[in-house]
Amino acid sequence: MNLLTIDDFDFKGKTVFLRVDINCPIDPETLEISGTKRIEEIVETINSLNDAKIVIASHQGRVGNKDYTGMENHAKVLEKLLGRNVTYVSDVMGSSAQSEIKKLKDGEIILLDNLRLCAEENYEFSPSNAAKTIMVQRLSKMLDFCVLDSFPSAHRSHPSIVGFPYILPSCAGRLVEKEVKKLDEIMSVTKAPFVLVLGGKKVEDRLEAIRLLIANGRADHVLLTGLIANVFLRAQGRIKSTLGIKREDEIVAKAHTLIGEFPDVFSTPVDVAIEQNGKRVELDIRELTKDDEIYDLGPKTIQHYEKIISGAGTVFISGPAGYFEKEGFDFGTKSLLEAISNSMATTIVSGGHLSSALKKFGLAEKITHISTAGGALVRYLTGTKLPMIQALEESAKNYKAKG
Ligand code: 3PG
Repeated sequence: MNLLTIDDFDFKGKTVFLRVDINCPIDPETLEISGTKRIEEIVETINSLNDAKIVIASHQGRVGNKDYTGMENHAKVLEKLLGRNVTYVSDVMGSSAQSEIKKLKDGEIILLDNLRLCAEENYEFSPSNAAKTIMVQRLSKMLDFCVLDSFPSAHRSHPSIVGFPYILPSCAGRLVEKEVKKLDEIMSVTKAPFVLVLGGKKVEDRLEAIRLLIANGRADHVLLTGLIANVFLRAQGRIKSTLGIKREDEIVAKAHTLIGEFPDVFSTPVDVAIEQNGKRVELDIRELTKDDEIYDLGPKTIQHYEKIISGAGTVFISGPAGYFEKEGFDFGTKSLLEAISNSMATTIVSGGHLSSALKKFGLAEKITHISTAGGALVRYLTGTKLPMIQALEESAKNYKAKG
């Protein structure tokens, strides 16, 4: 690893910017946090920074989405997990954030508000331009070090991720350190064939990564589930209903191009489950009407996917196969996770939903690596260097060069 870690610095009495990713699932009705796994994961890093003045920051959701909220509830959860006071600051870089940072004493912790409240944090920059953003310029004057521990957003070149390390001595937090070590270890001995089981909601991100994965020999079979399966089914002309996603026609057209370029790689569902009068009903994909909402995969699809998984050398799964939290609709997700945990392959499970599902089904022990990262992990597997890792490597080089 060419990164510095927390063990390379003495943080006592220093002010540290700790960029984490506690972007959590949010209940759309109550706006409460419905899964705290990502908050649990940062506890070790905070405890390792013991005597520092700690300024924690994260994003939550995307502007315009239902899960775009402030960080007050995150602070409460973190406080409980740590057993230490965590002061929530309803500001990111304004005068109240600045005065709270100045007031910090050794061992004290503040959590700034959702970084995406700052317009700049919603755009990607080169590291040198990210360092010129108002947020990085203002805050870095009050900071001594930057610790990056937001592995799930390591694929974003946002100011908080690539800007601070351009200016401040920076290192990886415990989570990033563990992920990078484990993934480097796994990827140095991976075996073909590579089977990717892809679901999840961030379809556009996934489409871009799929091309790279196939081109770089990291995807011999792509088994599609969830919303992305519906996009490919539409591209194949096998379902007609609209999917309710932004720029749908453009996205379906991209999927169509991918199928044309790599005709033997993709598998899409042949049967699915919908809800009728409160009950699970399984249908052949040809029987679906425009109004049917797909909640799960059907048994024929699972059988086909299980067969491919059983012959895999490496399996990567991201995103649940359906609405697994709903009674009667966990069949697809459970069956795929069982097939993966029973296979002889190297297995990587990605994303918060699947981490919870593994726990629920008692399968976590049988998996080679489990990560709460989604898109970042998919990007990592493409073999391209993630902006956060690049920023940390550059910072380490500069720091060592200064002696
Ligand atoms: C994630 O959940 O994948 C990360 O928090 C990154 O979120 P983003 O895709 O909204 O940048």
